[in-house]
Amino acid sequence: YPPERIRNFSIIAHVDHGKSTLADRLLELTATIKRGHGQPQYLDKLQVERERGITVKAQTATMFHKHKFGFPDASNIQDPPNFLLNLIDTPGHVDFSYEVSRSLAACQGALLVVDAAQGVQAQTVANFYLAFESNLSIIPVINKIDQPTADPDRVKAQLKSLFDLDPNDALLTSAKTGQGLEQILPAVIERIPSPPGKCDSPLRMLLLDSYYDEYKGVICHVAVVDGALRKGDKIASVATGQNYEVLDVGIMHPELTPTGVLFTGQVGYVVSGMRTTKEARVGDTLYHAKSIVLPLPGFKPAKHMVFSGLYPADGSDFDALNHAIERLTCNDASVSVTKESSTALGMGFRCGFLGLLHMDVFHQRLEQEYGARIISTIPTVPYIFEYSDGSKIQVQNPASLASNPGKRVTACWEPSVIATIIIPSEYVGPVITLCSERRGEQLEYSFIDNQRALMKYRLPLREIIVDFYNELKSITSGYATFDYEDSEYQKSDLVKLDILLNGQPVDAMATIVHNLKAQRIGRELVEKLKKFIDRQMFEITIQAAIGSKVIARETTFLLNPKHWIPDSVFHNDWISFSLRQTLHFGSSFSPCSISAMRKNVLAKCYGGDVTRKKKLLEKQKEGKKRMKRVGSVDIPQEAFHELLKVS
Ligand code: GTP
Repeated sequence: YPPERIRNFSIIAHVDHGKSTLADRLLELTATIKRGHGQPQYLDKLQVERERGITVKAQTATMFHKHKFGFPDASNIQDPPNFLLNLIDTPGHVDFSYEVSRSLAACQGALLVVDAAQGVQAQTVANFYLAFESNLSIIPVINKIDQPTADPDRVKAQLKSLFDLDPNDALLTSAKTGQGLEQILPAVIERIPSPPGKCDSPLRMLLLDSYYDEYKGVICHVAVVDGALRKGDKIASVATGQNYEVLDVGIMHPELTPTGVLFTGQVGYVVSGMRTTKEARVGDTLYHAKSIVLPLPGFKPAKHMVFSGLYPADGSDFDALNHAIERLTCNDASVSVTKESSTALGMGFRCGFLGLLHMDVFHQRLEQEYGARIISTIPTVPYIFEYSDGSKIQVQNPASLASNPGKRVTACWEPSVIATIIIPSEYVGPVITLCSERRGEQLEYSFIDNQRALMKYRLPLREIIVDFYNELKSITSGYATFDYEDSEYQKSDLVKLDILLNGQPVDAMATIVHNLKAQRIGRELVEKLKKFIDRQMFEITIQAAIGSKVIARETTFLLNPKHWIPDSVFHNDWISFSLRQTLHFGSSFSPCSISAMRKNVLAKCYGGDVTRKKKLLEKQKEGKKRMKRVGSVDIPQEAFHELLKVS
């Protein structure tokens, strides 16, 4: 297939507007997959994608299609198919817009899918501009026209007023009933230009993505921009300077299909003996070793917007968690990982994510695919602090912002975003209130038609990672849509808020907040924690403090003595660990709870076996030691989850 017979295109849309379903239909139309293959959303391969119904990793599929374009005399159409089409599916969620811009780099056009009933939404706007800035030909597709509330004319008017797209160019489809789908591939072939590369130039290919396969090793997805790549070729990487031999090369049709060669304009896969995906830098240029080429423009590196600590639920599982994270980051290079240790939680990792959903998906994959049991700490954004000696540091872990008497914080900055919100006009008031509570600054307020308003706000990133979207949805009865792009750092008045349990700060719960909100957040945090720390035999004081100033305080309820668990206590590590705290937090322990615990320990020793008794008392002592080292009460994971909802 010469480049003029190739089309590389993407499907972009707001979440749930139907792009994965549409991709399935196109794969069926071209017999790339069998109709009714039993697995909807074929390109959504990850378990989490299927469960949550979202696309996380962009996937590519090569299709073959017969079309008369370029053959004015229809009788000349060759059989077999005369066009090769590469469809690159993209994620719709805002956290993964990095994946979207990567996919677009390999395309010359995009189908902009809009739900006929919902109309243009916030991510439609964001994705349109990504495609527009990449100079892609955009084909508007108004999907779900089978719905009773579909109003394609309204959507056409929105596309015209917002993006200046000609209403006559819009295709009307239903990926569900199949209506209108036959227009799509002809439009792709006729309206999207062929890839611009040169067949007779030296090989240059763009590394789009990579993943690790147990049998084949690292598999790279590439777009061949110039020249051709053959099995057995020696290639080199601009980014790392490493040389490799091409062991296997082919297309995704939709599974890996070896072809032995990839020509100019094609998108496919390469296996070249790379050992880890760290060698496969996304956005890198690969070329024939010994040839001289100019590197292709790469991608902007992924920016980590949210950081959180990840710890094994059981301290002894550190190695297992380490292994699981290593394996998973092999396939998700957009997560940054550094080791860290916490007094409260032991050895763990500080991970950087593209957003909260990205973080959630990573956690879910760790648990589902690697069976890891984890505790994650309150997510934070990367703040910048300046000290009296003029030094500046980026703080990714609030606990690391230790008070140093020799150094004073003189200024601090926090990252901000530009948020786009689209809502039915009746919700404008509540949204303005929410954004100003979240320290937002209004930048734009306009109407996209007579029913919907578009608002742009500059908001501190911290304010939107904490439950913003849920609240926005709830005050707009689910009608608001929202997207954001990162913007500059802004000067702010920030303080570190510590949480203390029985007077001991819990490093894993420290957070950085705006000074004006510290009081309220502190109060809410201690109230939430109180709910989550189960009733125990001893009282626990929960405090929130800024430096040495306590700003909120609660104490836990005591467990009714009737409910003390006499025997099974030491079967359950969680409870036993909590009990051990009693001794440590001596200031608040009640003598009767201690005696009850002692009774518990020895109650297991039917018949008075001395060695066993000794062992149990040893274990108890060890508990004391560990507790001293740990210096905190054990908190269930849900508490950490709940804490992150306090804004
Ligand atoms: P992400 O992958 O999360 O970005 O979502 P998506 O845009 O790929 O949406 P998806 O294809 O998963 O479709 C979302 C829902 O809309 C699914 O329940 C589909 O069955 C449904 N759907 C897709 N196309 C149509 C259509 O033409 N008509 C109707 N009525 N429903 C559709």
